[in-house]
Amino acid sequence: MKISKICCIGAGYVGGPTMSVIAQKCPHITVTIVDINEKRIAAWNDPDPARLPVYEPGLAEVVTEARGRNLFFSTDVDGAIAEADMVFISVNTPTKTYGKGKGMAADLKYIELCARQIAAAANSDKIIVEKSTLPVRTAEALKSILHNTGNGVSFHILSNPEFLAEGTAIQDLHDPDRVLIGGENPEAVQALVDVYASWVPRERILTTNLWSSELSKLTANAFLAQRVSSINAISELCERTGANVDEVARAIGTDSRIGGKFLRASVGFGGSCFQKDILNLVYIARSYGLHEVAHYWEQVIAMNDHQKRRFADNIVQTMYNTVSGKKIAFLGWAFKKDTNDTRESAAIYVADALLSEEARIVVYDPKVSAGQVYADLDYLGTRSPEENRRLVAVVNDPYEATGSAHAVAVLTEWDEFKAYDWPRIKEGMMKPAFLFDGRKLLAANRLPDLGFQYYAIGE
Ligand code: NAD
Ligand code: UDX
Repeated sequence: MKISKICCIGAGYVGGPTMSVIAQKCPHITVTIVDINEKRIAAWNDPDPARLPVYEPGLAEVVTEARGRNLFFSTDVDGAIAEADMVFISVNTPTKTYGKGKGMAADLKYIELCARQIAAAANSDKIIVEKSTLPVRTAEALKSILHNTGNGVSFHILSNPEFLAEGTAIQDLHDPDRVLIGGENPEAVQALVDVYASWVPRERILTTNLWSSELSKLTANAFLAQRVSSINAISELCERTGANVDEVARAIGTDSRIGGKFLRASVGFGGSCFQKDILNLVYIARSYGLHEVAHYWEQVIAMNDHQKRRFADNIVQTMYNTVSGKKIAFLGWAFKKDTNDTRESAAIYVADALLSEEARIVVYDPKVSAGQVYADLDYLGTRSPEENRRLVAVVNDPYEATGSAHAVAVLTEWDEFKAYDWPRIKEGMMKPAFLFDGRKLLAANRLPDLGFQYYAIGE
């Protein structure tokens, strides 16, 4: 099977960058990314690269190179499905907020809608690729929907989970550690292998059965998150014992069996994937009656919640047990640097805890809009939207954020924070000038020497 037309349903943080890179690297394939969100598609088509809906270093260049040549963004979902030989499903699979499995299971309604739409719009045989992160055995449900349409069209289903991390998506897509393809039909698997082999060395393209591929994605995220929770657990012990968590991380990370990556202690992991995927794993384990397995992975989330909470508690305690009426400047709102994504960002939960203590918060983030900050706080439902706007300000200038603040809290590890004029920031603050570094970002800035009361995670 030779692929000449690809359709991708879902123009989000995964569909957009992934398909843009396929189009860039495979000029012989026409790639059409479709979405029901008209505003998002309009933004992908915006001639001004600064207005693309996803901020990722290098993404604008890739889109500019391929858009209009063999890369298209459209709201015509049916039309793009009908034309394609291969359809990627890259829609969101958030944690369920209702019914059975509420707060744990993945909500598969968008996936099912896609399957039904594919079944209705297809008039020729197609390969369907699960790009979204899905519970193990979802392909079975997809198969059942697609094969019972009675329109004589046949479908092969593949699992091809995406391992890119936000902030480094383009780099990860250009040079992946591996590409994983699970499937039953060898020709269909080979067709997708051939797409990636345009730029990925063949030995890095792994092929497995469907269920191994689906389960490997949840497992990879669980392992990565587990490392962050493990080092965060040790960070608390460091704070009590005089050990330094960076030194411990270096000491253990140089053991080649452990490895040095994903050992940065932090205010807690965020992002749209880790928590959602572990909750899903826990739910699946429990549904098979594997309670010890479920309990084991649940602790990764429990530790992460604890880390976010104790960062906020430490701020209150250190500032003489009250932050009521005090101004606290937040540097960073995104869940990590180099992205405008704020889903599950630790900053949201730290802010919520401090607002409950009647703090006033002023946020500065280089890429996150005021509207997004308020939407994140409103979504929690802890207080009214009016109250959130009264207590929280969002500004475009870090010196404005920190001016006359009682404390500064670093929530995201944006590089630019290291280059700030810290003596000037201290001058402008209330004294003592408290600085809480949730990312251990400013250790080299010698802030205690400048007269800051400096507290970093794990020191
Ligand atoms: P997203 O919310 O940014 O994008 C999903 C898009 O799908 C939205 O624009 C939405 O409008 C669209 N959509 C939903 N239903 C649709 C339908 N029926 N027809 C057309 N469009 C529809 O989500 P995302 O971050 O891109 O994640 C997508 C999937 O990839 C999830 O399963 C996620 O777990 C997985 N994933 C995400 C990342 C990441 O870093 N964000 C990494 C790896 C895997
Ligand atoms: C993650 C996975 O890395 C990626 O493979 C998958 O496809 C999607 O989920 P992402 O959430 O985009 O990617 O970013 P990641 O770099 O994994 O960071 C997740 C969170 O963990 C961030 O909040 C980050 O700040 C935090 N983190 C990461 C740490 O606190 N310490 C670390 O050492 C690494």
